[in-house]
Amino acid sequence: MKIAVSGKGGVGKTTFSALLCNEYEKEGTVVLAVDADPDANLAGTLGFTADQAPTPISSLKELIEERTGAKTGAWGGYFKLNPKVDDIPGQFCVKRGSLSLMLLGTVENAGHGCICPESAFLKALMLHIVFNENQHLIMDMEAGLEHLGRGTATAVDAIVVVVRPDMKSLETARRIVPLCKELGIAKLFYVGNEAQDEKDVEFLEKNLNDHPLLGVIPASAEVRDSGREGRGPFGDEKVNEEVKKIRKRLEEEADVSK
Ligand SMILES: Nc1ncnc2c1ncn2[C@@H]1O[C@H](COP(=O)(O)OP(=O)(O)O)[C@@H](O)[C@H]1O
Ligand SMILES: [Mg+2]
Repeated sequence: MKIAVSGKGGVGKTTFSALLCNEYEKEGTVVLAVDADPDANLAGTLGFTADQAPTPISSLKELIEERTGAKTGAWGGYFKLNPKVDDIPGQFCVKRGSLSLMLLGTVENAGHGCICPESAFLKALMLHIVFNENQHLIMDMEAGLEHLGRGTATAVDAIVVVVRPDMKSLETARRIVPLCKELGIAKLFYVGNEAQDEKDVEFLEKNLNDHPLLGVIPASAEVRDSGREGRGPFGDEKVNEEVKKIRKRLEEEADVSK
């Protein structure tokens, strides 16, 4: 199963991605966590310390130049759009048990639609990962889905849009939906997060009815404290129960053969 997680900043994308990864890691199922948000913090949320965190792929200038054939100072010239990337995940992941983590980093695009060697490299890498790895992939993304260009997006089984019970995160979700369609992402699901009470759950159920709402994660003092204290958000059984249910529904419904 290959899942991309998106939504407005602060809704709980990274928290949910980490919780889902944790479900697989606990049982020893192979899972690759990809931090594709330029504002990267999945490593810390998964409990890796700063010195354990992997190097962002986009910062590996020499490697990108070597593979794309681009020359420094000659950006804008010719470079390979399909550089060799098959050895990258193995080399630039950090591993802990059955969990691997990779960080994509930031690509500074000069303008809309511009393709530079870095982004060509990351696109090739995304395509390689999503097509070739026989494993669970959880990609923590930004709302803009920058790394999922046309072509790469079609290889993700589904996108999960995380929504908090407020109008702002709902509005962002409503912008993501047509973007997914445009990119050709087959399936879209919602996950509600940080519901304080029944009213919050009702708000999410009422407003998220164009695609399946897989579940609603309750607001949790433990999860909030974990963020403040810089440890993983894995200590609340109610939250873990809900994530388990969400995972089960995801695996059932994200199956692209259906
Ligand atoms: N269910 C929850 N209950 C309480 N706090 C939460 C919950 N989910 C996320 N948070 C907190 O909200 C903040 C933003 O979450 P984060 O996952 O970093 O959002 P995003 O990745 O979407 O920007 C963090 O401090 C996190 O600890
Ligand atoms: Mg985040």
